Amino acid sequence: MAQPTVKRAWWKESSVYQIYPASFKDSNGDGVGDIPGIISKLDYIKALGIDIIWCCPIYKSPQIDMGYDISDYKDIHAPYGTVADVEKLIEGCHSRGMKFLMDLVVNHTSDQHKWFQEAKSSKDSPYRDWYIWKKPKYDAEGKRQPPNNWGAVWGGSAWEYDEASDEYYLHIFAPEQPDLNWEHPPVRDAVHDIMRFWLDKGADGFRLDVINFISKVPGLPDAPITRKDQVYQPGDKYFACGPRLHEYLLQLGNILKQYNAFSVGEMPSVQDPKEILNAVAYDRGELNMIFNFEIVDMDIGKEGKFSRRPWTMPKLKGIVDKWQNFMIDNDGWNSLYLENHDQSRCVSRWGSDLPEFRTLAAKMFATFLVLQSGTVFVYQGQEIGMINIPISRPVTEYKDLETLNAWKELLERYPNDKERQRITHEEIQLKSRDNARTPMQWNTSKYAGFSTAEPWQRENESYHDINAESQIGVKGSVFQYWASILALRKSHKDIFIYGNFKLLDVDHEDVFAYTRTFEGKTVIIVTNFRKRPVKWSLPQKITIQQDQVLVSNYDGVSVADETASLRPFEAFAAFVN
Ligand code: GLC
Ligand code: CA
Repeated sequence: MAQPTVKRAWWKESSVYQIYPASFKDSNGDGVGDIPGIISKLDYIKALGIDIIWCCPIYKSPQIDMGYDISDYKDIHAPYGTVADVEKLIEGCHSRGMKFLMDLVVNHTSDQHKWFQEAKSSKDSPYRDWYIWKKPKYDAEGKRQPPNNWGAVWGGSAWEYDEASDEYYLHIFAPEQPDLNWEHPPVRDAVHDIMRFWLDKGADGFRLDVINFISKVPGLPDAPITRKDQVYQPGDKYFACGPRLHEYLLQLGNILKQYNAFSVGEMPSVQDPKEILNAVAYDRGELNMIFNFEIVDMDIGKEGKFSRRPWTMPKLKGIVDKWQNFMIDNDGWNSLYLENHDQSRCVSRWGSDLPEFRTLAAKMFATFLVLQSGTVFVYQGQEIGMINIPISRPVTEYKDLETLNAWKELLERYPNDKERQRITHEEIQLKSRDNARTPMQWNTSKYAGFSTAEPWQRENESYHDINAESQIGVKGSVFQYWASILALRKSHKDIFIYGNFKLLDVDHEDVFAYTRTFEGKTVIIVTNFRKRPVKWSLPQKITIQQDQVLVSNYDGVSVADETASLRPFEAFAAFVN
């Protein structure tokens, strides 16, 4: 196929580093990370080759959902610092040639936000329509029921009853996270105002939390019954990508454009790729790119996040191939990620965190990801190959409401089913969000060098072996590998950022391989996803020479008679002749 006209853009060429503020670096010994802590590590992030820092929510919040429940969008959660600290942080980024993104959480607020407090105070409040209220339903026995059958993402009904007004309000997440009513124009104006407030302070853009939930299907109909044994049903069919989504996004896009700002939207539960394309296609003026969930949902079973589903190589290949070519062919753009604050550590989840393999696996995943077409997102700790919490840690020590709610529900439903409990603990160890939220591992001192006090979430025991200090500037470390592969992507922009993508050997169960091509120059990327050696036949007409290797997580490659002998988790990229 002919090379489509390449549209260059700084936001396509960037690499983004994501910070989880509570767990990055504590500067004042209270066991909680903070903004001065982040400022003290800006040189570290710069040394990795990062262009943009995205920080998870730091606004004032009761922290029911770690800051994704905001009670004041123009103030900062006191343990993290002040607005003046944020200004310093932005300045610190800019003086190092980096940009800074805020996390914009505007599908819902905290129930402690003054808008909601007002709205709840009376049916006549001018803020009443800022949220979504509905009258109860009554069943055959005359019992009061929620207005529809939607389940909340964290369990239970998506509706909370308000005694005083005899109405329910909608909350797709926790009851303390009421959904804003975007149909009501003052809500949209308020969001635009928040955006300008931070952009005027020098922020360079936003990551937009569950942004495809802001438009709901009018009438909020009952969801189809897909979980037969449960009362409440997933309602995403009616709250994800509703009819006015693109109208609202275009309004946000207009503001972003005025500031030449960066945008990445989070979009769970999308069935139709065209919906995504409408949000990110180059000429639409909505968002630069979005996070889709297909890879990270690949091992989620039918009964929710902690039910089991083995992932398969053909499945992964199908997902990557689809999105790579779809965006290249249609002038859209991908974000590339394997980890974030809602996902576990990829080395443990899809590779192996055994001491003999984890360094190799971390580098293999970096190679697999970074050389695809899209903007790269690195999550704190991924650049040093951090791993999941060990299975020895009991669920009672976990902190995240998603895990705790799921565990509680399980114990209530199956109090005597020890086998089910054991399997669920394994799935929690594999996929819980807590895995990403343990303190960043800086060095071998107590509490992993994150804090001088006991951290709010216990550090991962692995910090003795896996920590930044032992890797920075050290040849062969995961950190240096990440730095070199991010640099490689930039030094060959035409190929890695603007080139075509072709998946190789679709049916192979162990090896993920692809090529990137730009104006007749081709690079092949080969990754072995297994902890054992694998023989792989090179595609016809492709030869690989030792001196054409661009990056490798072993010393060079071993190719003879058109067959590559791949070692455990081996990964390399090379020009092909
Ligand atoms: C997004 C965030 C997640 C949060 C949820 C509700 O998915 O990434 O951390 O819990 O939205 O705001
Ligand atoms: Ca602190």
